[in-house]
Amino acid sequence: MSPSEDSAVSSPFVQSPKLGAMNGTPKPNGAVVNGQRNDFLSDRAASTEIDGIRGLMPLEGPGIITFVAGRPNPTTFPFDSITLHMKPPLGGGEKRDVELDGELLDAAMQYGPSAGLPQIRKWLSDLQTHVHGRAPGNWAVSMGSGSQDLMSKAFHAVLNPGDPILMETPVYSGVLPTLRLLQAKMVEVDVDDEGLSATRLEEILANWPADQKRPRVIYSTPVGCNPSGCSASKQRKLDVLAVMKKYDLLMMEDYLTQNLIPSYFELETQVFPEGGHVLRFDSFSKLLSAGIRLGFATGPKDILHGIDVNTAGANLHTSALSQAVAFKLLEAWGIEGFLSHAHCVADFYAERRDIFEAAARKHLDGLAKWVSPVAGMFLWIDMSPAGITDSYKLIRNEAFAKGVLAVPGQAFYPSGRPSPHVRVSFSVIDLETEAPEGFRRLAEAIHDKRRELGLE
Ligand SMILES: Cc1ncc(COP(=O)(O)O)c(C=O)c1O
Repeated sequence: MSPSEDSAVSSPFVQSPKLGAMNGTPKPNGAVVNGQRNDFLSDRAASTEIDGIRGLMPLEGPGIITFVAGRPNPTTFPFDSITLHMKPPLGGGEKRDVELDGELLDAAMQYGPSAGLPQIRKWLSDLQTHVHGRAPGNWAVSMGSGSQDLMSKAFHAVLNPGDPILMETPVYSGVLPTLRLLQAKMVEVDVDDEGLSATRLEEILANWPADQKRPRVIYSTPVGCNPSGCSASKQRKLDVLAVMKKYDLLMMEDYLTQNLIPSYFELETQVFPEGGHVLRFDSFSKLLSAGIRLGFATGPKDILHGIDVNTAGANLHTSALSQAVAFKLLEAWGIEGFLSHAHCVADFYAERRDIFEAAARKHLDGLAKWVSPVAGMFLWIDMSPAGITDSYKLIRNEAFAKGVLAVPGQAFYPSGRPSPHVRVSFSVIDLETEAPEGFRRLAEAIHDKRRELGLE
């Protein structure tokens, strides 16, 4: 591969820039990578580079004798080939047996590029072009050990310690540990029934104190948000993009499904013709397997480079075996087969949601309300109609005593504020027996609490 083919690797002969001021408030972020300035990059992203060995790897190729890599000699590896027995994609198709062997097996067994195996990155770039209508350009795809891994590395690439970040709330709680490690100032932007509210976002930014560093980054799960279940319409996304334009923001868009396009990544070019303001995360966890630990980030090349530098230092690269297995499957299914599978997965959860919601309605009517989720695997149950203000106490005491558990809402707020909500999951629960019985117990717990509060 030539250096220019691998966007994520800069020239190995460029010296690492000097460490910038790490506590730079109110100095704006921004760094020069590969000769281009990106205002979203953190000082750290500018002060670290892929190390001297990995930095040379992209230069290896035909005609070059290389003494560079400390790759283990593959003749010592005990794998000849791997046969994948694949189920048909949901919704139709055939069972297949596929061999993982030859060059791809060699790549799967060996150290590989930090951004990921070229074969799967190419396949996924084509997918993104197909799904989001983005012609190849100044964006790329990098692989990670799940989208969790990529998001954590992305936060390091765009935030200096102590920087503010706008968070859709309630928020996927998995992003909180990294942001706490970075001592990020998390600014809560409450969702309404359509997810991230553009009005609220504008209000926060319009009233931002002049002497404080402004947030430059928003994190959102725009479809089937975990936990709120909300999904943003096309118009809502355009409204948010208009606010992003006004305040020059970067959107970190976190997706677990291929459904409900257009995405921010697609709509971005209507507002920012040059792109560069949406960093998208896709996960294979709900579509292929969670244990395969694969996700991919799509977005501005220089921010992906910041992520890849982090990967080079943290784990060298995402499991090449996982990438090769996924690539074999994706290649066999093709883009249409993969998308059809993804739609069937969404339908599978939608059917479960209907049964689950019916059970919830039967037992919680008058005590709780929720927005019916168009995607995802959670109900975000608001118990304020029953007079519950702090679900943590209810779950810890009355609900546990009755034999039922759900996640108290406060886990999904960076501030840990008390919440009348609980998150309940319908992904694996037995819908015939456990779901109705669980809701019956939750209703009993709510009644116990109401009696204690003197409400009945
Ligand atoms: C909203 C959201 N983002 C990211 C993740 C992590 O995904 P992955 O398994 O790809 O790391 C999850 C996992 O449940 C999630 O709910």
